[in-house]
Amino acid sequence: MKQTKFIAISSQKGGVGKSTLTVITASILSYLRHKKVAVIDADFPQQFIYNLRDTELKTIKDDPIRAEAFVRQQLHPYPIHSAVVSKDNNAFSSICQQLDGNTDVVFVDLPGTMRLDGISGVWRKMDYIFVPIEPDAESLKSAIGYISVLEDQILNKPDSRLKNYFVIWNKYRKGEKQEIYNQVEAFFLKKHIPLLPVKIEDSVYFRRKDLRSTLLPLQKNMMHSHVVEFAAHIEDIISKRSEEIIDNRLP
Ligand SMILES: Nc1ncnc2c1ncn2[C@@H]1O[C@H](COP(=O)(O)OP(=O)(O)OP(=O)(O)O)[C@@H](O)[C@H]1O
Ligand SMILES: [Mg+2]
Repeated sequence: MKQTKFIAISSQKGGVGKSTLTVITASILSYLRHKKVAVIDADFPQQFIYNLRDTELKTIKDDPIRAEAFVRQQLHPYPIHSAVVSKDNNAFSSICQQLDGNTDVVFVDLPGTMRLDGISGVWRKMDYIFVPIEPDAESLKSAIGYISVLEDQILNKPDSRLKNYFVIWNKYRKGEKQEIYNQVEAFFLKKHIPLLPVKIEDSVYFRRKDLRSTLLPLQKNMMHSHVVEFAAHIEDIISKRSEEIIDNRLP
């Protein structure tokens, strides 16, 4: 029986890269690291990941070059389930039950709002939550608001399986003044907010639809964006190897 880990790359701010990072890291862990992966797309009605798989399958059907690339790699696509967050979360819980014990890691793409019936019940079903942030005031403010809800209501509560959350920089711009990054990092350290030691770069390749794939492993153009390091941290954390090291809540 597998020790399934449920993880969400989640925040309360739109457009910070939740779905994009979910797709890319799920594909890295499945196709490059050979973990048994599943995705639950619970971001209704947008369902970016569920629809992306659908579009990709259609494209493969119509495009012999892509079809050949896919067949040549002999990959087995990870399942993508669709589920709606609701007051009782019956449908969501039944998918989680199906996957628990026979999957290594389940990625859940969640709606970016705290004001949704049932959403806190779903947070309680996660083992780890990764919160992407960008260096702008709005993104940081909403991340801090979200984190305080996780701290006050979810983490270490008896009805919750959430073991920890981690903040992760996304859309990092090297050329930009480093001051804001340093200030935010000092603030997180002071408040004992766990921040992953990796910055995923802002790269045009992330915006290209053809490079975000649920059927193929990481595209070469994205190798240097540090998304591979992010996936490695996820792998470490779910195997409980580095949790103690990067959890700056510990003395
Ligand atoms: N590291 C990155 N570099 C450049 N663009 C990025 C990066 N990460 C995400 N993006 C882009 O930012 C946009 C928003 O990403 P995405 O849809 O994944 O965000 P989201 O948080 O899931 O949004 P929503 O709240 O609408 O669900 C997309 O165009 C995506 O390609
Ligand atoms: Mg999204």
